[in-house]
Amino acid sequence: MTIRLAAAALDQAAALLRAGELVAFPTETVYGLGGDATSDESVAAIFAAKGRPRFNPLIVHLSRADQAERFAQIDSRAARLMQRFWPGPLSLVLRRAPRCPISLLASAGLDTLALRVPAHPLALELLRLADRPIAAPSANRSGRVSPTTADHVLSELDGHIAAVLDGGPCRIGVESTVIDLSGRTPLLLRPGGIATEELEALLGPLAAPSPEDAPRAPGMLASHYAPSLPLRLNATRVEPSEALLAFGGDAPVGAKETHWLSKDGDVDEAAAHLFAMLRALDRADFTAIAVMPIPERGLGRAINDRLRRAATR
Ligand code: TXA
Ligand code: MG
Repeated sequence: MTIRLAAAALDQAAALLRAGELVAFPTETVYGLGGDATSDESVAAIFAAKGRPRFNPLIVHLSRADQAERFAQIDSRAARLMQRFWPGPLSLVLRRAPRCPISLLASAGLDTLALRVPAHPLALELLRLADRPIAAPSANRSGRVSPTTADHVLSELDGHIAAVLDGGPCRIGVESTVIDLSGRTPLLLRPGGIATEELEALLGPLAAPSPEDAPRAPGMLASHYAPSLPLRLNATRVEPSEALLAFGGDAPVGAKETHWLSKDGDVDEAAAHLFAMLRALDRADFTAIAVMPIPERGLGRAINDRLRRAATR
């Protein structure tokens, strides 16, 4: 049985992590499935609990940016991004530092490491009390939709992890943006909680990984974040048997059930609702989930990325 811990039981959550156990915890993006990143056993247990392929590396979470240089090589680009966006929804893929104490399993055999400092008071306090780097992929079974509440975590991982720290719903709702700085050109591995426009203002235009970069981007699986029902994207009309995820004022009428990602056409609000609504509508009494077009700006990029992967099967 997995125990649900309230914010007041933070000490207990940290003690479990120090003892090598797995504890899911809230971040500003989604819930993470945390384990001691310096322990091979704990990191292996994370892969097992998620059913995650061992070739897909994990993000390591720190409580302070100044801890990063113990674990990874920080160049001036990385330093600038850390200064500007940490704590926050940005993960940086960097070369591992010499004598980096983090389990090689967390890097999945690569000579790089993804690091981030989350902007969530409970997460930061948990990381501080755990007093070690914490590896934390999203707390869902591999290939499924990321969790934005403690109930989502328990629906897939109950019995597979020691505890979940309940901090209520996540504010941003999509995972962190992942930027690879391990090569000469920065690569956008995953659009996420920081708008690409904001990063490009600092770094210049960001390239996506090309086929030659594939070994550096093992997590870019086409099918991911998938509900069980088929997803129909860019819907401008609906079938009576379908559920509709609507965006903006004028939604097509006639769906069996309609949920608004955002009535005002606000992409931030839509991101915060996306995963919870995909879960809520993933029911056998619909034939499909139709989703209205989402603009490709701000967090809309991350939303469209997740929707495309969720629609691929
Ligand atoms: O918002 C988030 O990033 C959440 C919260 C819990 O922090 N975590 C998360 O982790 O989404 P996960 O494991 O679901 O996604 C991590 C992504 C994967 O696509 C993985 O392939 C990529 O980051 N990644 C991690 N380490 C990497 C590395 N060394 N090189 C390339 N990609 C890496
Ligand atoms: Mg994930």
